[in-house]
Amino acid sequence: MMPTNGSWRSRSLILSLLLAPVTQAITIDTNDRQSVIDAASEAAYGMMTWYAGNETGQIPGKLVDTWWEGGAMFMALIQYWHFTGDATYNDEVTVGMEFQAGDGDYMPSNYSNYIGNDDQMFWGLAAMTAAELAYPEASTGYSWLSLAQGVFNTQIARWDTTACGGGMRWQIWNWEAGYTMKNSISNGGLFQLAARLARYTYNDTYAEWAEKIWNWTIASPLIDTATWEVGDSVSMGDNCTTVDSTRWSYNYGTYLSGAAYMYNYTNGSSEWLTAVNGLLTATWDTFASDTYGNILTEFECETTEICNRNEILFKGLTAGWMALTALIVPSTYSTIVPKLKTSSDAAAASCTGNNNNTCGVKWYTKSWDGEIGLEEQMSALNIFWSNLIMTSNASAYAPVTSRTGGNSTSDPNAGSSDSTDKTSTLKAITTADKAGAGILTALFAVAIIGVVYWTVAGSE
Ligand SMILES: *[C@@H]1O[C@H](CO)[C@@H](O)[C@H](O)[C@H]1NC(C)=O
Ligand SMILES: *[C@@H]1O[C@H](CO)[C@@H](O)[C@H](O)[C@H]1NC(C)=O
Ligand SMILES: *[C@@H]1O[C@H](CO)[C@@H](O)[C@H](O)[C@H]1NC(C)=O
Ligand SMILES: *[C@@H]1O[C@H](CO)[C@@H](O)[C@H](O)[C@H]1NC(C)=O
Ligand SMILES: *[C@@H]1O[C@H](CO)[C@@H](O)[C@H](O)[C@H]1NC(C)=O
Ligand SMILES: *[C@@H]1O[C@H](CO)[C@@H](O)[C@H](O)[C@H]1NC(C)=O
Ligand SMILES: *[C@@H]1O[C@H](CO)[C@@H](O)[C@H](O)[C@H]1NC(C)=O
Ligand SMILES: *[C@@H]1O[C@H](CO)[C@@H](O)[C@H](O)[C@H]1NC(C)=O
Ligand SMILES: *[C@@H]1O[C@H](CO)[C@@H](O)[C@H](O)[C@H]1NC(C)=O
Ligand SMILES: *[C@@H]1O[C@H](CO)[C@@H](O)[C@H](O)[C@H]1NC(C)=O
Repeated sequence: MMPTNGSWRSRSLILSLLLAPVTQAITIDTNDRQSVIDAASEAAYGMMTWYAGNETGQIPGKLVDTWWEGGAMFMALIQYWHFTGDATYNDEVTVGMEFQAGDGDYMPSNYSNYIGNDDQMFWGLAAMTAAELAYPEASTGYSWLSLAQGVFNTQIARWDTTACGGGMRWQIWNWEAGYTMKNSISNGGLFQLAARLARYTYNDTYAEWAEKIWNWTIASPLIDTATWEVGDSVSMGDNCTTVDSTRWSYNYGTYLSGAAYMYNYTNGSSEWLTAVNGLLTATWDTFASDTYGNILTEFECETTEICNRNEILFKGLTAGWMALTALIVPSTYSTIVPKLKTSSDAAAASCTGNNNNTCGVKWYTKSWDGEIGLEEQMSALNIFWSNLIMTSNASAYAPVTSRTGGNSTSDPNAGSSDSTDKTSTLKAITTADKAGAGILTALFAVAIIGVVYWTVAGSE
């Protein structure tokens, strides 16, 4: 029985006051697996305080003022479940993933008029992740694999040859700014999805598409295979000859991931290994240099504190793709693990806000920077689960294929019955709709500057 006398109580009060700041912060010991799991759990909990889609009257899978981030969020939670075994959020994930599926291709009619290729892609990648991590199938609805195939099928139908010799446009609709641009995340996203479908299904048609997108990308200025720098976008106005070279980590990450899956699919081709190693080195050198203590940093916006919601997510997505790369390109494991650990420790130090483990934007300062949000939590969650590949049975966590335990049902024709991806069903678009939709990155500003630049240049 505990003593109940006054002196014990006051002692315990003083103790708890002393301990409070310490126990409230995520003190992560990366060498202790449970400690990393606890950190991931805290980050996930904080993230889900921003999600009301499971409440009565709310829309499953829809986050306030953004549609695409729902896909990114569920992807993070599927990976969290896979690496920790904690199924707390699985019901919300499954319901939300099915609710937003549209006709099996993530073009739900409420949002399909302003969804960009990259927005749709993130949901497709979430579904692919579910298939590869053997996440339980929904009792009714689309299989995870078929949803990924639905996104693939609807996207390859949009492959655009009107300029630049091919490539995916950023936007699907001509009323969206960015319709005349081709960008890395859209092309790199489809490249990654195609490579993952190839590896999971062993159907070479997907691999041919991955190769086609890769070939187009490296022939364009988006990827420089001498330096492995990855640009953000090119404009159809000049036939994609000039690149916007703003550096965003997820552009590197998505091509890295696709190359890693192709390496694995081809049973270890040296060409793909060269791409993996080149992109991996460039990613660390660009986003986790000595300047930032070797900690992942979205330097284009973090150092000046101008990151928008989307941009806050990039480095966490990139970390996750690197973690999966380590599992399917085993030669990269020993370089990736310690680097993820450095970023994970720093992220934990940033998750010390509000006395309740609120995570900040900047990890490299190793302290909370006063920021709070869904995206901060999601990025922290992503770096924490990524760190869980650090275990002696890491290979047991590798994404599966249809021959190694994956049994998600295939539907090669998924998405072909889509009824929303057609101009005939257009609805009036409100400003609020638009705010709720696309990846409205700094690209927007860049696009406008680009347009002005070309107008000026053209009038000379
Ligand atoms: C942490 O505290 C802040 C400020 O009070 C609050 O807005 C936020 O919802 C809290 N987060 C969690 C996960 O409790
Ligand atoms: C919604 O999910 C959260 C956990 O993220 C949970 O706390 C809450 O009770 C759920 N609400 C409903 C109505 O199921
Ligand atoms: C579409 O919007 C309506 C009206 O807000 C809502 O009731 C419905 O759940 C939404 N469906 C999806 C898939 O978001
Ligand atoms: C545009 O670029 C593509 C790919 O490099 C090339 O095949 C095509 O000839 C170019 N078109 C023009 C008009 O320069
Ligand atoms: C991609 O380029 C390589 C090297 O030039 C070539 O061998 C391959 O056939 C191309 N693949 C596709 C699908 O175009
Ligand atoms: C990889 O190896 C497996 C097993 O030997 C074989 O079935 C498959 O065809 C190979 N894949 C490629 C792309 O060569
Ligand atoms: C492909 O990934 C698996 C893990 O699923 C791994 O065991 C295998 O060694 C990888 N293949 C190659 C060629 O590295
Ligand atoms: C890896 O090993 C740990 C410790 O033995 C065990 O708890 C866990 O279930 C294993 N994971 C997998 C995916 O086999
Ligand atoms: C598919 O695999 C999962 C996980 O490995 C398993 O729980 C499930 O029973 C399997 N389903 C079928 C139909 O074999
Ligand atoms: C392979 O994928 C392609 C493209 O989706 C599809 O047309 C074809 O039927 C698939 N082949 C098999 C054997 O599933």
